[in-house]
Amino acid sequence: MTRPSIFVTRRWPQAAEEALAAHFDVTFNKDDAPLSQDALAEGFAAHDIAAPTVSDSIGADIVNAGAAGKCRMIANYGVGVNHIDLAAAAAHGIPVSNTPGVLTDATADLALTLMLMLCRRAGEGEREVRAGAWSGWRPTHLVGQAMTGKRLGIIGMGRIGKAVAHRAHFGFGMEVGFHNRSAIPDGGGVNGTQYASVAELCAASDFVSLHCAATPDTFQILDEAALGAMSPDAYVVNTARGDVVDEAALVAALETGGIAGAGLDVYQGEPAINPAIMAAPNTVLLPHLGSATREARVAMGMKVVANARAFAAGDPLPDPVG
Ligand code: DGY
Repeated sequence: MTRPSIFVTRRWPQAAEEALAAHFDVTFNKDDAPLSQDALAEGFAAHDIAAPTVSDSIGADIVNAGAAGKCRMIANYGVGVNHIDLAAAAAHGIPVSNTPGVLTDATADLALTLMLMLCRRAGEGEREVRAGAWSGWRPTHLVGQAMTGKRLGIIGMGRIGKAVAHRAHFGFGMEVGFHNRSAIPDGGGVNGTQYASVAELCAASDFVSLHCAATPDTFQILDEAALGAMSPDAYVVNTARGDVVDEAALVAALETGGIAGAGLDVYQGEPAINPAIMAAPNTVLLPHLGSATREARVAMGMKVVANARAFAAGDPLPDPVG
């Protein structure tokens, strides 16, 4: 019996590629260069299963081309699926899976990294040392703010939001508030956690960290009004998706001192970054590293393998989307 074919758009960690190749006829993107829309459409059409990731834009054209060819399943490498036209997939009866759970810790750790880098001015300090501009210890040098005991507002209290709440509360004694589209009865497992509207949360928080999925409902959920409610001493952290923040309003808040700083791992239209963000003061900018641990990236690949194998066997998908 022939093995199902699978189209992988980017290189994966070796262990995950090997696990996939043990069960499928795989076409890898050998040089790992981003694929054009034409190459994506061809790859989708020529394989039973497509395994794209966040750096591929899988619009209706690609899904339609896949459906007109051989594509019967999309097994996304990653938890976020805002780069895939899910309605087009559903219209063709093409199931979509993702990789929840296995990148929770990695992404939560990175959100805490950004919080600490901001309030302790670690990015500025590192740049100063590397530029050979450090003139020595002095009481007023690069003085930041404490993180311990401060108030954290989480927008999107799913797996990653809860993991951030847990770290912040139990590791740093922070008070945690959150905004979420559905009720979280146990407050995410952190005692005293309070639900608030986005504006209330922004007004009451020293750090606002975004962990919601990018959907039409969350588009620029951190907007001019929400940023305007924040304290000039407060920080924004985004490890979710660029679309959940109004970047123009964020730049304005940074330039006018409306907020103290922003730590960003994700951007609208990445990998291009709005030059105004690059030029804005008090930012820490990372290149979408949330899930970038060896452990998480291998586990993400294994999730794709498990979902694709279930599909090939006619079993329910472990991680269906929608
Ligand atoms: C995800 O999984 O959605 C990350 O943002 C990419 O790894």
